[in-house]
Amino acid sequence: MSAASPLSTQGTVYLVGAGPGDPELLTLKAHRLLRCCDALVYDSLVPKALLDLVPEGCERQFVGKRRGHHSVPQPSTNAVLVELAGRHRTVVRLKGGDPFLFGRGGEEAAHLAARGIPVQVVPGVTAGIAAPAYAGIPVTHRRAGSSVTFVTGHEEIDKARPGVDWQGLARCSDGLVIYMGLHNLSRICKELIAGGLAPDTPAAVIQQGTVLGQRDLVAPLGELADRVAEQGFVSPSIVVVGQVVAERVAACAPAPADAEMPIPF
Ligand SMILES: C[S@@+](CC[C@H](N)C(=O)[O-])C[C@H]1O[C@@H](n2cnc3c(N)ncnc32)[C@H](O)[C@@H]1O
Repeated sequence: MSAASPLSTQGTVYLVGAGPGDPELLTLKAHRLLRCCDALVYDSLVPKALLDLVPEGCERQFVGKRRGHHSVPQPSTNAVLVELAGRHRTVVRLKGGDPFLFGRGGEEAAHLAARGIPVQVVPGVTAGIAAPAYAGIPVTHRRAGSSVTFVTGHEEIDKARPGVDWQGLARCSDGLVIYMGLHNLSRICKELIAGGLAPDTPAAVIQQGTVLGQRDLVAPLGELADRVAEQGFVSPSIVVVGQVVAERVAACAPAPADAEMPIPF
């Protein structure tokens, strides 16, 4: 049997998007799989309400960050998925938002496929669209933004070959949706201004979008980092930069769900 052909005794691993937090933003397909899975592997940004959907007797494994510890290393998570797929028919690997957007879903899919383990992705509603939407901010707009870039702010700006060309993005994308951007926010804002964005470009931060504790802040790009620090914004937060922020329609923002999502330690 070739390395890529599935073994008949093995189960399927579903890489499932949990959505941004509001349990009602879960897809019907994700809901169906959660209701029938034999094993569940999940991490930090998954609302508790979704964990309660799995059947009694479902084997659960947490692979996120625990207080005082780092996240479970990716090779260990990969090994857990392989092991569970050898014992269970339906394994759900539940990830916040969309599994293929800054979620390492691609790495896990490749790892499983290379071992002949059937794997399927179930896309989810990403926080980068949902959190701004729950603040009434459209991420594109006919007048204000024809292009939008989803970008991670997690990478070190100082490293020898920076992964993100912030100055280039300032020139080529109308709007930016920045994940994991709080830690480097001051440097990111400076880079964007050095790249040509005006300091008065509208910008916003949305913390804990779609769930209890949601709050947001709108400020000019040149003041954003100071205001965010003053007001004590924490992760998980999405940063939006661009004229789309000025197109905010507060009246269309849904009320956040009465659901809790853990703040990563
Ligand atoms: C590792 S990334 C995972 C993104 C996820 N795969 C998605 O599609 O939304 C984690 C980051 O997503 C963002 N995030 C996730 N859930 C969020 C929420 N409910 N509100 C604001 N930001 C959120 C934050 O920037 C957080 O640091």
